[in-house]
Amino acid sequence: MLEAVVQGVLGASGLGLGAIVGTVWQPRRVVSATVMAFGSGTLISAVSYEVALTAFRDGGPWPLLGGFAVGSSLFIGITRLVDEQGGFLRKSASRRRFLFERRREETSAVLARVAHVEVMRNLPPGEAQAMVSLLHPMSVESGEAICREGEPGDSFYLIVEGEADVVKGDRPVAVLGPGEVFGEMALLTHQPRSASVVARTPMELYQLKQEHFDDVMSRSPHIAGALSRALARRLRSATESQARAVQDLDRWRRQVLDSAEIDLSSAEEERLIEGLLEASRSAPLAILVGTMLDNIPESIAIGIDSTNPNTTLAFLLAVFLSNFPEALSSSMGLRQAGLRRSRILLLWAVAILLCGAFAGLGSFLAGTVPPVGLAFVRALSGGAILAMLSSTIIPEAYELGGASVAFSTIAGFTVGFLLSSPA
Ligand code: CMP
Repeated sequence: MLEAVVQGVLGASGLGLGAIVGTVWQPRRVVSATVMAFGSGTLISAVSYEVALTAFRDGGPWPLLGGFAVGSSLFIGITRLVDEQGGFLRKSASRRRFLFERRREETSAVLARVAHVEVMRNLPPGEAQAMVSLLHPMSVESGEAICREGEPGDSFYLIVEGEADVVKGDRPVAVLGPGEVFGEMALLTHQPRSASVVARTPMELYQLKQEHFDDVMSRSPHIAGALSRALARRLRSATESQARAVQDLDRWRRQVLDSAEIDLSSAEEERLIEGLLEASRSAPLAILVGTMLDNIPESIAIGIDSTNPNTTLAFLLAVFLSNFPEALSSSMGLRQAGLRRSRILLLWAVAILLCGAFAGLGSFLAGTVPPVGLAFVRALSGGAILAMLSSTIIPEAYELGGASVAFSTIAGFTVGFLLSSPA
């Protein structure tokens, strides 16, 4: 048991080393990528030969399949929960993915509300997507004036819900409803508002500021066309565009969402992270739990095999190597979450000790659980390790190092294989 704890701590010490190195040195991307990919390769070979093969020999196909299914589902499910609490900051891949999904949700909500706005629907998906990120939601009470005739105008509006009267002098000239836009004339002509627009019911609107309106107009060849079509239609006061099938709106929304770029601008990334961190003060804890999630399956697997010298070496190397760059990038996330350096190192120390404890648990299970049960536990940790590799480490390594990570992965796999297979 003690042996297992020591080995668990040794494997996890890659975390400590990564964290310490991370405070004084930021390695080049290609270096991090190579270490990550090499570690992934050794872990893949460890899972194939130590975990899967042994579990299959001890328990046949069912514990293997069951363990893989439960292990990977648990890993993905718990990781999602942890990410919601701010744990997404621990790796650059998880950070980007999480923020991308957040923005997608935000965009989807806005799109659902502006899907019936003619001007938006006439834009190609990429341009609608760009415009959505610039819209500000706004509510007004009935009787409130949104534009006043003769005053300078600095915004353009899309009506989501409610109706407004357009009034010139004291003569009502039109009623605008959901899906219509107004306020474009002052922005296009740089003249005062041509009329007052007064809410006749409570209204939900989206506002586009002048600077964004100008920006969108100059960048999007379609928006001018979309606007002039809307204006021509207004002149003819045609109403035929009102009845569009709901299905159609949904398809349009999906198209726009699919056109979303996964990379956010750094300003947008900051905005999302700030908002999320404000909502959640538990980010440091979530990052620790997230890191532990990556390490618990590995530590249990180390513990189970702590008395087998061939297995141990291959596993320890794999775990150590994959932990090193993980802690490097996680330390950055922890600093972003507002943690001091000493606290960060303390967190890693706790993580390493916990890994030792889980390795101890693995060795305890190895001594008490019957072979079929142990095969299931092995496969469970193997499934979680494969889920972690495929959903975070390998994509991140590729992102940092490009296609050359293939060679480091294969090198890692070969070394792992040679170390673990008895001669
Ligand atoms: P703007 O002049 O910026 O501010 C008042 C807005 O009312 C104007 O842009 C148009 O969007 C809208 N508007 C003006 N006249 C009419 C009209 N006859 N019918 C519908 N909308 C109008």
